[in-house]
This record gives sequence, structure tokens and C-alpha cells, in this order.
Amino acid sequence: MDFKKEVANKISQLVDMELEKVMELIEIPPQANMGDYAFPCFQLAKTMRKAPNMIAADLAGKFTPDHVVGRVESAGGYLNFFVNKAEFIKSVLSEVITKGKDFGTSEEGKGKTVLVEFSSPNIAKPFHIGHLVNTLTGSAIEKIYRHLGYETQRLNHIGDYGTNFGKQIAAFKHWGNEEALEKEPINELLRVYIKFHEEVEKDPSLEDEARLLFKKLEDGDPEMMGLWQRFRDLSIVEFKKLYQEFNIEFDSYNGESFYTDKMGEVVQMLRDKGLLVESNGAQIVDLEKFGMPPCLILKSDGATIYATRDLAAALYRYRTYNFHKCLYVVGNTQALHFKQIFTVLKQMGFDWSDDMSFVGTSLVKFADRKLATRSGDIIYAKGVLDEAAEKTLEIVEAKNSNLANKADVAKKVGMGAVAYTILKNNKDKDIIFSWEDILSFEGDSGPYVQYTCVRGRSVLRKAGEMPAAVDYSKLITDEEFTLVKLLDGFKAALKEAANRCEPFVITRQVTEIAKAYNKFYNSHPIMNAEADLKAARLHLTKSVCSVIETGLNMIGIEVPENM
Ligand code: ARG
Repeated sequence: MDFKKEVANKISQLVDMELEKVMELIEIPPQANMGDYAFPCFQLAKTMRKAPNMIAADLAGKFTPDHVVGRVESAGGYLNFFVNKAEFIKSVLSEVITKGKDFGTSEEGKGKTVLVEFSSPNIAKPFHIGHLVNTLTGSAIEKIYRHLGYETQRLNHIGDYGTNFGKQIAAFKHWGNEEALEKEPINELLRVYIKFHEEVEKDPSLEDEARLLFKKLEDGDPEMMGLWQRFRDLSIVEFKKLYQEFNIEFDSYNGESFYTDKMGEVVQMLRDKGLLVESNGAQIVDLEKFGMPPCLILKSDGATIYATRDLAAALYRYRTYNFHKCLYVVGNTQALHFKQIFTVLKQMGFDWSDDMSFVGTSLVKFADRKLATRSGDIIYAKGVLDEAAEKTLEIVEAKNSNLANKADVAKKVGMGAVAYTILKNNKDKDIIFSWEDILSFEGDSGPYVQYTCVRGRSVLRKAGEMPAAVDYSKLITDEEFTLVKLLDGFKAALKEAANRCEPFVITRQVTEIAKAYNKFYNSHPIMNAEADLKAARLHLTKSVCSVIETGLNMIGIEVPENM
């Protein structure tokens, strides 16, 4: 039973307001003494020409307690509903138990396609921490939408095109080592690329060579194409290793190069619509009246650029997927670029550009300056993850040296800790990395939430078979009711997370559930409770583990068997 909806139904029968509107207005009060749901009467006051507190008081008198609502009170213009606790607990827990990991799924997205573009690293270049942030954020958003019934497409807009590939090919032809390329492709490609920049200082003719090779690549020369393809394939193999760590897959790896033959059409369209103007030999779309710098379309030598490819990609996506939404999960530093792209599309008369949004991710800052993985200004994702696993292993050794599969546990906990840190705050905030906080087993951390689930499962294991018959009315303490409310709140959290494109809403919800469970666990016996109460508490424990695991998996965190 959807209690909120039941409450909304009751309200809409008494007032002149659509059910949907009532649903929208209903709030979850911040404190238990203000009820479980609250309906503000301020909007009604306008149409009814009556003070909100009078309306609330009037309405409160019209409710008779039943199996859904136990009590209604009016306070300061609000109608506060106190649910029938026993019914509520029974309804929520039986739903969690029967639905399992499908708890919270919905039909709201049926027939609607949401594209989530995320990760999008550049081939032959290291996958840096910013890409990891985009990867985890985008993947979480995609999983949340999928849970809500949307058809989703996970798009990886790989950076695999541009004049720098002329340099990359030239560099590899001069100094590349086959064996090293097979073994550590990205390192080797980076090594020769850096060497190219050193050598070009001494021998500027290398620039011309690189330009020529790029031209050959563009013209489809088999040798150049072969090298480029290898660089691309090997890089993607590397990226996939990292994706695997977080159970992330993609539906498409169509990168920038995919749009090379699709840009002519877009450029022509811009020209036909009179949007293309010349500026210092280059072709641009002027965006001055929107308060933005111009969008560069063709360089003075006629070469297309990043923005041109994004315009072509947008058009391709619209035609291919007829999307309900197209989300771009990219670092905030590219906010202006996407604003320009969306504006140009709108100028072209494509109203569907309103369904595209930029989901900007924030910067990672390191509290510990002494980071082993730092090289120059770039922080490699792999280094951070390896360091997390290593440090976690030390902690696990110290805490529980007899643990089986230590390395495996350390990996899951270490990765989880990093993912949690990245997704614990809203996207406007910088992400602060400090190993001490990341790997803390207390408070707001990945290991804390994982550990709660591991502990709950160990209770269930000890208990053996789950009692089938259960009398939920045994659960009468405040701690239990609070916990069930938080489990139910997972559904609203999913919707909020999707609407705001903010995975942290899920992180926050599972953390609150974990805290509430630990509070319950520390103040009430489970195994030593009398049989009926024990059965009900085991069901509660099972529900908690199930919702926590569903939520954690959404944000890229696995729960180890032990820890
Ligand atoms: N490859 C780019 C980078 O690493 C991100 C691509 C973002 N997506 C796009 N459609 N432009 O910075």
C-alpha cells in the first residue's frame, strides 16, 4: 500500500484540488512529533479565502481514524497525519520482503528513453580522477532511472579523434615499443607522446610530420587507420578493467571519431539557416545576444572541432533514440561548452534540445598532499583505487587478521569507500579526499554502511531459516518505526535522486538506514527476544540488508560477505 497516496486521496476528497497536486504538496515532516506526512494548506488559503490554520483545523475535524491514518492534527497551517503504525510497518516490510532488490521499482518511466552519457575518457591518455567521478556519477544516475522503469542507454563518448592523433602516431612510429604497448598500452602511448613534445623542441619538423600523418589518417590510409584502431582498442580494454571493478557496462562506445562523416550535414544545416558567420577565417555561430562567446564550428583551415562533433552527436542521438531526456555527465569545467551546444541547437530550431541537460560534476581535492599517485597535475584513477585497496588491506589485517579472502574484501571495501566519498555530497560541492575519512568505519563512510549490512547478514545467518509466519504488530518501539519509515523513504529518495540527477540522495538514504539500524541493534535484542518478536525483527533485519544493498549497488558499491 502506498500510504502517501492513500493520505492524498483522503485530502482530495475533502478539498477542491487534484490528487496529483495534493501528492506534490505533501511533505515528510522533519520531526516525528509533526506526523509522518504533512499537508500545507497555504495554497488552499488563496482559493478558499480563508486563513491556512483555519482550513487545517476545519479539515482535521473531518477525519476519522482508520487502518491507514491513526490520527490527524492541525498545526500552524499544516495538517499532520500520523499513520496507523502497525499497518504501515506490515505494509512496508512485506513489500520489501516480496520485492527484494526490485523494491522501489516503478512504472513512471515506461516507454521513455533516457540517454546517459558518462565517463568519456580520451584514448591513449590516462583515465584520471575526474573521469572516475563522471563514471560513478553517470552510472548511478543511469541505474536510478532504470530502477524507475525508464529505458536507458549508457553512452561512452570516447575522445578518439583530433589532430593530436597525428602526433601520437608519429611518436609511436619513432620511439614506440611493441612489447610495452601490449603490456601497458596507455603508459607506453603516454611515454612516447611526452617524448614527442620534448623532441619537437629540438626538431620542429616533427610537427609537419604529425600534420601529414593526421591528414593520412583522415584520408583513410590503412597503416594510419590500423595504428589508430589499435590505440583505440587497447585503450578501451584498459578502461573496461576499471569499469568492471564497479560493475559498469556501456551500450555504446561511439566516440568523437564516429561523427566524422556526420558533421558535413550539421555544418550545411547551420549554413542553410544562416547561422554560420566568418570570423578571422574561422566559421562560428555568434552567441553574443545570449551573453556567451561564439561557438567555433570550423577552424580557419576548415577542420572541424570538438563542438562540431557534439552537434552531430546530438542530432544522431535524437534520430536514433528519440529520447525523453539526454543527460551529459561531464566535469563542470565544460559547462559553458554545453550551454553553447544547447543554444546552437535551439537556434537551429531543434526544440528537443530542451530535453538535453548538462549534469556537471565537481572537482576532487586532496586533503593529504602526499598522495603517492600524483604525477604532475594529473591524478590517475587507478592509482587512487590501488592505494585505497592497499590501505584497506592494512586496516583489515589489523582488525581481523583471520578473515578469509582478505584481499578480495579489501578491494570491495576500498573501492566502495572511494565511490562513497565521490557520491556522498551534492554535485555543487568539491569532493574532498582524505584517507582518514574515506576509510573510516564510522559515520558517513562506505565501510560503515557496508559493515552494517554485513552485520545484519551475519545475524540472519546465525538465525538459520527465516520464519515464514510473521506478526509485524510485534514491532512497536520508536527505533523500529523510524527504521521502517526510512526503508519506505527509499522510494521517494529514488524519485528525488532522478529528478535532481543527484545520486547523493541515495547515499544519504542508505546511510540513514544504516545509522537507524545500528541504533536499533544496540538497544534491542534480536536473537534473545521471545519467538514472535524475534521473527519480526529478523524480517526487519532482512529488509534493511536488502534495501541497503540495492542502494549501495546503485552507487557502485558491493557488499562483501564478511569484513
Ligand atoms: N573526452 C572529454 C574529456 O575527457 C569529455 C567528453 C564529454 N562529452 C561530450 N559529449 N563532449 O574531457
